[in-house]
Amino acid sequence: MAVRDLFVTRSIADLVKDTGTEGEQLKKTIGPVALTALGVGAIIGTGIFVVIGQGAGLAGPGVILAFVLAGVTCAFSALSYAELAAAVPVSGSAYTFSYATLGELVAFIIGWDLILEYGVSVAAVAVGWGGNINEFLQAAFGVALPDAISKSPSDGGVVNIPAVVVVLGITVLLTIGTRESARINAVMVGVKIVILLFFIVVAFTAFNGSHFEPFAPKGIPGIAAAASTIFFAYIGFDAVTTASEETKRPARDLPIAIIGSLLISTLLYVLVSFTAVGIASTKQLSGSDAPLSTALREGAGIPWAGAVLSLGALIAITSVVLVIMYGQTRIFFAMCRDGLLPRRLAKVSPRFGTPARITIGFGIQVGS
Ligand code: ALA
Repeated sequence: MAVRDLFVTRSIADLVKDTGTEGEQLKKTIGPVALTALGVGAIIGTGIFVVIGQGAGLAGPGVILAFVLAGVTCAFSALSYAELAAAVPVSGSAYTFSYATLGELVAFIIGWDLILEYGVSVAAVAVGWGGNINEFLQAAFGVALPDAISKSPSDGGVVNIPAVVVVLGITVLLTIGTRESARINAVMVGVKIVILLFFIVVAFTAFNGSHFEPFAPKGIPGIAAAASTIFFAYIGFDAVTTASEETKRPARDLPIAIIGSLLISTLLYVLVSFTAVGIASTKQLSGSDAPLSTALREGAGIPWAGAVLSLGALIAITSVVLVIMYGQTRIFFAMCRDGLLPRRLAKVSPRFGTPARITIGFGIQVGS
């Protein structure tokens, strides 16, 4: 094999032709609303419910500007994804884009990078589920699961059962159907948006402008450092492009969903951070593992509202796990179908219309 062969690209027409191969055809079931919900599902999660506290520790009230800065930075990447996704309507996200532009070797490396990135993200986010269910049980009912069964060994537990259960439950859902998964994701996205709007409204009733002084205790460097941490809160819009092949009108709907989900999330993030700063001190926000819930409980003095926020965090994290696991399976599927991994794995279940073997395999691997 000549070195040149490693950089052979595939034409877009060729990539699109493969999507029609008998037995490897994914069903086109996703419309623009469900697609945008996939984006919001992957974006809004631990970032706003947890990482905002670290951001406040670095930037003080200036964390609001950190959200704006990270959102603007992300917009450039989102526009590039939107353009590429409209031009290459094939599952696989950046893996497929690189196959079409930079060649096989780069695509192979990027494909594995993405699978690893998505796998690590799902595992990290699912582990957080264990902590959040305890937060919710504690706030709502005054009970909690023992650490041994709700924390991973690295955190002093034995096995994180909630994380395993959520990953396996989502595996079953993703295996049964893409339309079903997208619908349940849309419901979870609706609930988390309502809970964040609830936070904004309740926080406005206890708003106190004195919390904004001093606005940027560590100056621009503090805001920039917070923005780099807050960037995590925006990760996920790229997962929309792993649904290209299952989208009814990809060239039109993918750009709408990528940019739409980023806009919705940015707007909510800025409003939530603004109102969070308005009701809680930097110390309260940065000293908590569940800053929004703490802000309502200790800052605004509304304990029951804190329990609602814990529930919101739980639902938000579940939808992040769902969309990221979905994306991971579609990238792997695209690599198998292109022959860079065993092609026999790229089978679509005739019954469910999903890549069931890959989905179950990934579910077991991430869950364990
Ligand atoms: N953006 C995702 C989150 O905040 C990863 O959880």
